[in-house]
Amino acid sequence: MKMLLTLRTVHSARICSRRLLASSAAEEASKIVTPNNQSQLEINGGTYATDSWTNVTPKILTHLGMNKHLQQDHPLSIIRQRIVNYFYAAYRNQRGNPLFSVYDKLNPVVTVQQNFDNLLIPSDHVSRQKSDCYYINEQHLLRAHTTAHQVELISGGLDNFLVVGEVYRRDEIDSTHYPVFHQADAVRLVTKDKLFERNPGLELFEETWTGSIANPKRILPSSKFMDQTKQPCHTLEAVKLMEHEMKHVLVGLTKDLFGPRIKYRWVDTYFPFTQPSWELEIYFKDNWLEVLGCGIMRHEILQHAGVHQSIGYAFGLGLERLAMILFDIPDIRLFWSNDSGFLSQFSEQDLQKLTKYKPISHYPQCTNDLSFWLPPDVEVNEGFSPNDFYDLVRSVAGDVVEQISLVDKFKHPKTGKSSVCFRIVYRHMERTMTQAEVNEIHKNIADASVEQFNVQIR
Ligand code: PHE
Repeated sequence: MKMLLTLRTVHSARICSRRLLASSAAEEASKIVTPNNQSQLEINGGTYATDSWTNVTPKILTHLGMNKHLQQDHPLSIIRQRIVNYFYAAYRNQRGNPLFSVYDKLNPVVTVQQNFDNLLIPSDHVSRQKSDCYYINEQHLLRAHTTAHQVELISGGLDNFLVVGEVYRRDEIDSTHYPVFHQADAVRLVTKDKLFERNPGLELFEETWTGSIANPKRILPSSKFMDQTKQPCHTLEAVKLMEHEMKHVLVGLTKDLFGPRIKYRWVDTYFPFTQPSWELEIYFKDNWLEVLGCGIMRHEILQHAGVHQSIGYAFGLGLERLAMILFDIPDIRLFWSNDSGFLSQFSEQDLQKLTKYKPISHYPQCTNDLSFWLPPDVEVNEGFSPNDFYDLVRSVAGDVVEQISLVDKFKHPKTGKSSVCFRIVYRHMERTMTQAEVNEIHKNIADASVEQFNVQIR
C-alpha cells in the first residue's frame, strides 16, 4: 500500500466481518460499564461510547502520546526539525521572523468530519472504510492523516502552518508498513495583494465566477473528471503563480534533505482536497519513490473555513519514509525501539549530519505458516478481512512479527469452504528468539484466530 490516501483506491474490498476482533479486544481492555450499561473507551481524557464501528485495539492505543517525533535524538524528531527549520528559513515576515507556525502536539482523536467531510472526501471513498481506519466509534477515529487538522486551524485564523504528528492506518505487515507512522502537513494561504505584488492588475478569481458556496453535500467527481489545469473559480495566473511557488519550495526542501544533485520529477495525481494535485518523486537506488503529495487547495474548503479572499497550497509527507532513506534504516519497527543501541546512533547536536544507521547485529528470522479453513460462506474480503487478522497478530504477538503474507488461498471444490495460509516471519530486533518461544506465540495466534474468526486450523 502506498502512503498517500488516494492512491489506495483499488485493493480495498468491502468488509462485513461478523466478528470484529478489534472491537471485542478493545472493549476488554478499557471497557467501563456505566450505569446504563453502555461500553465506553477513555482516550486522551475523552470518553467515547463504543458502537458497531469500534475497531481500535488496545495495542494500537498504546501508541498515543509516545510522540516519537518529539523524542530527543530520535531520527523522526531530527527529520521534523529539518523540515521546520527549512520552512522557518524559506518564509520570513518583514521583521525577519518565521511566517509559519508549527503544531506538533494535536490530539490524534478526530471526528469523521475533520478527517473526511471537511476535506471533501466523498462519502463512499475507500479511505473511509472500517477495514482501513481505526474507528473509536461511528463519529470518531484516530486520524488517518495530519490533513485532518487543516480546517480547524484555518478557521482559527492561521494562514501559514505546519502540522506534525502520528497517523493511524490499518495495513499489512512488512519492513516498510506499520499501522502508526508520522506525517507533516502544511498550508500556505495568500491574498491577491501578496500574490500579485508586482502585477496589481491581476485577479485571484474569474470574473464570471459568482462566489457562491458550493453545496457541501455534493458528491464529488472522481479523478477522471477533475480538471488538472485549475478549479473553475481560480484564474489561470493565480494558479500558475501558486504552483510555481509551491513547487520551488518543495524542490528546495527535497534538495535540502537529499542533497542538491537529487533527481526528481513531478507526477499529476488526484486528491479530493486539492486541485490540481501532484506528487513529487525522487530517484533513489534505481527506483522512483514518492515523497510527498500536494496541490492547490479546493476553494470550497477555504470558504467553509471562512476564508474568501485567498488562494492556498497544501502538502503532506510521511516522515518514516524520508528517515529510512536518509539514515539507511532497514525496518520501520526500529522507530518504535527503546533500545539504546538504536537511539544513541543519532544525535540532534548537528542536524545537518545525517549519520547512517549501523545494525546492532543481525538476529535470525523464524518463519512459521498458519493455515485455516474459514467458516462456511465466508471468503477472503467477504466476511474475513486480512487486515482484521493482521490486527489480531499485532495484538497477540506485538512487534516481534516482522512480516506477514497471504501465501495461499483456495476453495474446496466439494465443501465450498475457503482455506487461507499466512506466512508469519518472526524476528526480534534486539535479541535472538528461540524456536520454542516462537512456537508458543504462533500457537497463541492460532488459538486467538479460532476464537475471533471461528476458523478451523488445518
Ligand atoms: N493527506 C494526504 C495523504 O495522507 C497528503 C496530502 C496533504 C496531499 C495535503 C495534498 C495536500 O496522503
